[in-house]
Amino acid sequence: MTPGIKPLVAGNWKMNGTSASLGEIGAMNTGFDAGLQQKIDMLVCVPATLLFQASEVARNGRLQTGAQDCHARSSGAHTGDISVAMIADAGGSAVIVGHSERRADHGETSEAVREKAVAGLGEGLQTIVCIGETEEERKGGKTLDVLKEQLALSLPDQWQGGELVVAYEPVWAIGTGLTPTADDVAEAHAFMRAELVGRYGEIGNAIRLLYGGSVKPGNAKELMAVANVDGALVGGASLKAADLLGIAAAYLEI
Ligand code: PGA
Repeated sequence: MTPGIKPLVAGNWKMNGTSASLGEIGAMNTGFDAGLQQKIDMLVCVPATLLFQASEVARNGRLQTGAQDCHARSSGAHTGDISVAMIADAGGSAVIVGHSERRADHGETSEAVREKAVAGLGEGLQTIVCIGETEEERKGGKTLDVLKEQLALSLPDQWQGGELVVAYEPVWAIGTGLTPTADDVAEAHAFMRAELVGRYGEIGNAIRLLYGGSVKPGNAKELMAVANVDGALVGGASLKAADLLGIAAAYLEI
């Protein structure tokens, strides 16, 4: 937690879900009740194919919907890609950029991630930029160096419009059931906070810093209570409303 910052619990469905899964969005929307809304914001980033429908399901609630990637350009000959305007048009208010799976599967560099972030922010989207070290980098004691470089290269120098959010996701913790210790998370998040304040001044104190990687209802309270952890980016446990709401409920106890 950071005093004065409202936490964000964000789900990332990755390449999971069809229209048969929309009931989970409905249940999340209903379960995200007034008590939770007072404490946190909640978002689910669904596959692009579901964004319009999911946004319609959540239309009358406070659950936000978003996409998992975007193209940096506004339109043109980019087969298979989607633009930030398309995300907004489909009802999305957010986009994840630079997830480690995109960096690994599609060779996205931090420079490419920054261009996408600029596009997302320029469209007014809440733009979640992901960074994080691999297992090898952690074992080599390079975690903070990696975070420093990824922050420097993946984030825009300035922006207008949307909200910039940064997610720390150790690659080795994603989908593995492994998590860093609370002390390790605290160290990484304090480091990121200091880097952001060094770069942006006071604005850096207001940027939400999410932790992601095997967050579950059972460990959410401990991880979300860590200083400078302003929410979670949740993969596997965001597919079921009961799990995502279980993570959100940790905030009722912190
Ligand atoms: P996980 O994924 O919660 O399944 O570990 C997190 C993420 O990749 O955002």
